[in-house]
Amino acid sequence: MRKILALLLAFVMLFAMTACSSGTPAATTPEDSNKVDVGIVLPTKDEPRWVQDETRFMEALKSTDYSVEILFSQGSSAKEKENVDALIAKGIKVLIICPHDGGAAAAAVEAAKKEGIKVIAYDRLITGTDAVDYYVTFDSIAVGEAQAKYLVDQTTGTGNPLYLYAGAASDNNAFLFFEGAWNVLQPKIADGTFVIKNSSEAVALQGKAKLTRDEMGKIIGQITTNWDFNEAKNKAEAHLTSAKAEDKGNVFILAPNDGTARAIADAFAADPAVTSYKVTGQDAEKASVQYIIDGKQSMTVFKDVRTLVKDSIGMAVAILGGKQPQTTGSYNNGKVDVKAKQTEVIVVKSDNVKSALVDSGYYPASDFTGLK
Ligand code: BGC
Repeated sequence: MRKILALLLAFVMLFAMTACSSGTPAATTPEDSNKVDVGIVLPTKDEPRWVQDETRFMEALKSTDYSVEILFSQGSSAKEKENVDALIAKGIKVLIICPHDGGAAAAAVEAAKKEGIKVIAYDRLITGTDAVDYYVTFDSIAVGEAQAKYLVDQTTGTGNPLYLYAGAASDNNAFLFFEGAWNVLQPKIADGTFVIKNSSEAVALQGKAKLTRDEMGKIIGQITTNWDFNEAKNKAEAHLTSAKAEDKGNVFILAPNDGTARAIADAFAADPAVTSYKVTGQDAEKASVQYIIDGKQSMTVFKDVRTLVKDSIGMAVAILGGKQPQTTGSYNNGKVDVKAKQTEVIVVKSDNVKSALVDSGYYPASDFTGLK
């Protein structure tokens, strides 16, 4: 009898285990409640820039009936692919994606394309694939040109020490920013206004007005911050350690964005042989706006994220409604010309912080101290 009971129990357990492993759902949720229409993937929460974009997306999405999910890739292409796969599984029709690495993201968007999903590259272009349908972006060449023009306008005489820094080589924008800066700086290096102090690759190419992507890659490889504040700080400190006293004095610094600008500015400010420094930035991050008010950062390039968000949501809604999104031009990504919508940028210095950033409703005045 005991044997029969034990056998019976074993049967019951085996049956229960098989039922579980066959994936029988414990509770049934209506499938539709999990459905997402538009998936948004942003590169990292570790930089204020992308948290800013998330906030602006949330504000803009209040008025749409479509279901949207925003995921962050935390600076990892593997995580980014997982995010895209998760959104594909939820049935998205449109993917808005700002890649961590523009080349590596091709695999993720190709998976989306296979499912008939339309892909919008957001701020950063995805390169080397035909699986990108649209691109919403700021005028990134104009960003670099504005940074360089600011530096040129601050110079007097010749022989001004110039320190160059760039973004991550995995980000197509880093090339566009540098290209823009080089357009304006190179003639001023050639005529002796500036002397490059921290890049032998840039010195070797300083006679060339137009650089190839490979040539830019060589310079960026040497002066990259990888968009990382610590890397920027360490690099600036190393440059200052190896620089001679005559390479310091009144210095000019091309810093690619606000986070790296603050890190580099702190390093230069701490060097007693640096009499004064001018440093560029971009993004109008709150911390940098405060630095500008306090005279610790010289300028920033304001990219009104509200416009980029509005344009990408507008494109997504057009696609979902079976319409053709409006574009203003195109960008070649190494494989195809991607139809693009481009937005202008605004230079912000201490004299227009209030009109550009506060009066426009972008930030409340109460976020800053000492604002005039
Ligand atoms: C963006 C910048 C940003 C940088 C670092 C670039 O692609 O255009 O706004 O500061 O990435 O995240």
